Amino acid sequence: MKTRNKIICGDCMKVMKQLPDLSFDVCSFSPPYSNGKFFDINKDFDKGGVFHEYLSEIARVSRVIGINFTQLIGKDGENSLFIEKLILNASDYGVELLDRWIIYKKVGQPARGNRVLNRFEYLLVFLGKGVSHNFSKEEKEKFKLFQTVFEVVSFRSKRNQVVTTTPYYEEIPMQMIGVFGREGSVVFDPFCGTGTTLKIAKLMGYDYFGIEIDDVICDQTIQELV
Ligand SMILES: C[S@@+](CC[C@H](N)C(=O)[O-])C[C@H]1O[C@@H](n2cnc3c(N)ncnc32)[C@H](O)[C@@H]1O
Repeated sequence: MKTRNKIICGDCMKVMKQLPDLSFDVCSFSPPYSNGKFFDINKDFDKGGVFHEYLSEIARVSRVIGINFTQLIGKDGENSLFIEKLILNASDYGVELLDRWIIYKKVGQPARGNRVLNRFEYLLVFLGKGVSHNFSKEEKEKFKLFQTVFEVVSFRSKRNQVVTTTPYYEEIPMQMIGVFGREGSVVFDPFCGTGTTLKIAKLMGYDYFGIEIDDVICDQTIQELV
């Protein structure tokens, strides 16, 4: 299957099953929340659950994976526990935690209803299956240049888009690709939605591969990108 500069409309699990190990150097994504067609992270996160199966497959085809969860915190202390569970049980999910970067949202999340203004989120950086920490000298130099606490401000303009998804900050794929992209890399987003990761990859001179299950969103993203 061609994996350069392509967006496939379908279930990413089915598509990934057709791909060889470590097809991609960089994977950057935000998981499906309540618009998940095959799973919804709010319901299907638990160890051994549906998300576990998807993440294991993502880890098989990707060298480094950056995941940003929108972490909602309630005034009563109620919190989404995905992040803590994922860090604690990373090996059960088929990944190894490399680092935790901090995303500082200058504007914050709207403090609606029971929610607090949530200004910080994690970008969890994982190594894919069987990938070691032995990065090249050049990559180690790049690590030193990047801030692992970084500010995010920009959503891509949604003016011409008929349908949108949970907003995804451009700085997230920019960081991931900037640190882990190598000559000839293909950047992967298994839940590509409106294609923020893919658009940033293209802007930075890399090839991309995205999968999106919602046909309307997928067609729109293809029209914009390909
Ligand atoms: C949080 S959004 C991603 C937003 C994206 N980063 C962007 O820039 O628009 C998650 C996306 O995953 C899609 N999705 C849900 N289940 C999927 C599956 N099994 N395979 C592929 N895409 C899926 C949803 O339709 C949604 O567009």
